[in-house]
Amino acid sequence: MRKSMRSKVTVVGAGNVGASAAQRIVEKHLADVVLIDVVEGIPEGKALDLWESAPVEGFDCRLTGTRDYAETAGSDVVVITAGLARKPGMSRDDLLLKNYEIVKGVTEPIVRHSPKAILVVVTNPLDVMAQTALRVSGFPKQRVVGMAGVLDSARFRSFIAEELDVSVENVHAMVLGGHGDTMVPLPRYSTVAGIPLPELMPKATIERLVERTRNGGAEIVAYLKTGSAYYAPSSAIVEMVDSLLRDRKKILPCAAYLEGEYGIRGLFVGVPAKLGRQGVESILEIPLTEPEKAALNGSAAAVKELVDKLKL
Ligand code: NAI
Ligand code: 2OP
Repeated sequence: MRKSMRSKVTVVGAGNVGASAAQRIVEKHLADVVLIDVVEGIPEGKALDLWESAPVEGFDCRLTGTRDYAETAGSDVVVITAGLARKPGMSRDDLLLKNYEIVKGVTEPIVRHSPKAILVVVTNPLDVMAQTALRVSGFPKQRVVGMAGVLDSARFRSFIAEELDVSVENVHAMVLGGHGDTMVPLPRYSTVAGIPLPELMPKATIERLVERTRNGGAEIVAYLKTGSAYYAPSSAIVEMVDSLLRDRKKILPCAAYLEGEYGIRGLFVGVPAKLGRQGVESILEIPLTEPEKAALNGSAAAVKELVDKLKL
């Protein structure tokens, strides 16, 4: 790839999520992209195919597909999607051991070639894989963040917009906790044109949408059968990459390493975080009711169980 002043993003894993993220990054003119995978021909072919769309789409960001980590050198952001996707009937946690080996194996060469990068971890089980990348990289906690909350809250927002027949742009939502069945959607902090959700819908309707959000990943797997979601996940990744690279300082629900925030220590859990050029620049601690706190602690306990299994 020739030299340019553009930012550089490496996407590890050229599967459904990785290739879609690469596409969204270049189409938004955010950065040059290096797509890397272990399967011969896949990263090369997908990157070339995407690059050949540039004249029609009108982007100048360059794409490289490779299996050689030397080409990832000097990346500003590295998105880790390498791993196995969930198949029907398989829980996110079944992926634990297999994906641990994969994430460990990709993080090592990534940090050798891009010691200053910010890592955005996507591979499931998300919160635990973020912890794997933190431990293996030895990076400061600000430079390792997991993607889940933006996806989970986008699902919640889309369901709310559909239910109320309003613009998605009016709908904001907050989903905390781990990316799993114990995630914690927060209707009190979810708003439509600034109006809290409980003012706009009966409790039972909110409960139904919350439940659908919790099952959002599984709902897509049940349809696709041979894989899991990637359009909404790649959108969520790219909102984070955009805020990081362009120092937008968006407050987004992300898996961040907690050291006492929300009374949780030594774990990645989904919380509202400010993303800028330094990475996770701060974590917002919002007041929670007792049941909300209990749900967040329950979710953290589920993450901890897996972290303990891996002795991270
Ligand atoms: P996929 O199967 O389409 O792609 C995964 C890619 O990783 C494959 O191309 C595979 O060859 C590659 N890969 C495997 N081992 C590798 C290694 N050692 N180095 C480099 N590449 C390697 O799967 P998909 O749909 O792209 O999902 C990827 C991961 O993201 C899965 O773990 C999935 O569960 C997770 N995911 C997480 C989400 C979240 O909210 N955090 C949302 C969607 C997916
Ligand atoms: C999802 O939520 C598979 O975690 C992924 O769609």
